[in-house]
Amino acid sequence: MSINILGIESSCDDTSAAVISDGVIKSNLIANQEVHKKYGGVVPELASRAHQQNIIPVVDAAIKQAGMQASDITAVAFTRGPGLLGSLLVGTSFAKGFALAQNIPLIEVNHLQGHVLAHFIKETPDDTNQPGFPFLCLLVSGGNSQLIVVKSPLEMDVVGATIDDAAGEAFDKCAKVMDLPYPGGPIVDKLAKEGDPTKIKLSKPRIDGYDYSFSGLKTSFLYHIRDNMKLNPNYIEENKTHLCAALQQTIIEILMEKVHKLLKDTGIKELAVAGGVSANSGLRDALTAYGQKHKVKVHIPKFSYTTDNAAMIAITGHFRFLKGEFASHDITPLARFEI
Ligand code: KG4
Repeated sequence: MSINILGIESSCDDTSAAVISDGVIKSNLIANQEVHKKYGGVVPELASRAHQQNIIPVVDAAIKQAGMQASDITAVAFTRGPGLLGSLLVGTSFAKGFALAQNIPLIEVNHLQGHVLAHFIKETPDDTNQPGFPFLCLLVSGGNSQLIVVKSPLEMDVVGATIDDAAGEAFDKCAKVMDLPYPGGPIVDKLAKEGDPTKIKLSKPRIDGYDYSFSGLKTSFLYHIRDNMKLNPNYIEENKTHLCAALQQTIIEILMEKVHKLLKDTGIKELAVAGGVSANSGLRDALTAYGQKHKVKVHIPKFSYTTDNAAMIAITGHFRFLKGEFASHDITPLARFEI
């Protein structure tokens, strides 16, 4: 009998449902919430309401696309946190209802662990393109920037983290200063391709150990723009591509310095990247080049598994199912949830 896991993700502004059968992807659907675009960021209240609207149709479609019926599902895995509480409540309550109705196990998933384990989603049953243990995972998203040593699917040690802003936050906040729409990361990525990163010098933090900091970079970006706008009111318009290129290059350098230090110190030879910022083309190129130079095996996820998705929740659910790690029905979501 196959193990068919239904995954539910509702931690932020995307409602997603996926089915994974014996570790192989069968469906992964995402309903993006357009409603936040005009506010320049996610509005929690509106996100919860949109999840409430989307969740049943999205789950329904995911099960159908997998060629299954609700009764074929072996267990339901849901994001318990971290995330927006109102949004998490929708997914949690739905998962409980589904588990009760089908009389199947309920499995809680840490969203961050899901990002890391997205590397284990198989495209076909004989897909072997997965990291070997131990590996280092650079987890970079809108809310997190962490360096994680992964010892086995469910054994992870966070050895470094941002002490202030996350890498994605740095992209988004600096993009906002340039009046670019939310989320700024993908737009900065696009504009950076046409710019020269050496034209503008931004400051890099000096933080000991494996921790990150991005708030200094944000301030340096802000001051650079303020000072230049005094001399030339069209400064942003005329230098947008260079500003984006310099910002992106600096974020990548900050990220890669600590990755290099950690790999050197531990002797780990496999490196994976996860989270929304791993969609960044400059970071992907930098990781590939690093792997070739230092003989490190680099794992870069498919685009569809980089931003929030339920496939990563389902695969984590699969590993927990194998260990018999089930949740009880009095479980509540957690806005903050460490790996
Ligand atoms: O993991 P994710 O989807 O969700 C949360 O963190 O909630 O990450 C979203 C973040 C945003 O900050 C977004 O700007 C960033 O990932 N992002 C990117 C790119 N695509 C998404 N940042 C840089 N370059 C990209 N291509």
